[in-house]
Amino acid sequence: MKKQKSLVGLTVLFAGWLALSALAPSVPATRSTNGTVGDSLQHDPATGLVVDDRLTLVVAQCTACHSSKLILQNRFTRDGWKEKIRWMQRTQKLWDLGESEPVVLDYLVKYYGPEQKTFDGRRKPLPAIQWYKL
Ligand code: HEC
Repeated sequence: MKKQKSLVGLTVLFAGWLALSALAPSVPATRSTNGTVGDSLQHDPATGLVVDDRLTLVVAQCTACHSSKLILQNRFTRDGWKEKIRWMQRTQKLWDLGESEPVVLDYLVKYYGPEQKTFDGRRKPLPAIQWYKL
């Protein structure tokens, strides 16, 4: 009798598992080169950079001297990216990007700007705390 009971239990478990795995949404988790999951953007297989109509320009201006990884592993504000460009111009013989500069900056900030975090793991500070004397 005891044996039968555990058999029934197992069968129920198995049926439950089957039902759950059938119900579970099979969303393919796409993993981009910068490690974010669920990113629907297309990435250029050669450089890993996000594909959009400015990609060719950015590849030409920004991957001539070094790997695109230096872009992929960074996230800066527009000013931050501008500062990097100025730094490369001062010290690494980067040329004047001319009219391309704002276009390149738009691209960099759009895809490699600071991450927008919806939840950073901390609650908001309490508003107007009223401390009392012990
Ligand atoms: C003329 C050559 C050249 C070009 C073109 C160039 N860079 Fe660089 N860049 C460098 C050098 C050299 C370094 C330093 C590499 C190192 O430290 O190993 C560097 C470093 C960087 C870094 C890392 C900076 C840091 O603080 O660690 C980033 C980000 C970067 N480049 C982005 C870009 C972007 C964006 C473009 C296009 C606008 C670009 N680079 C075009 C030469 C260039």
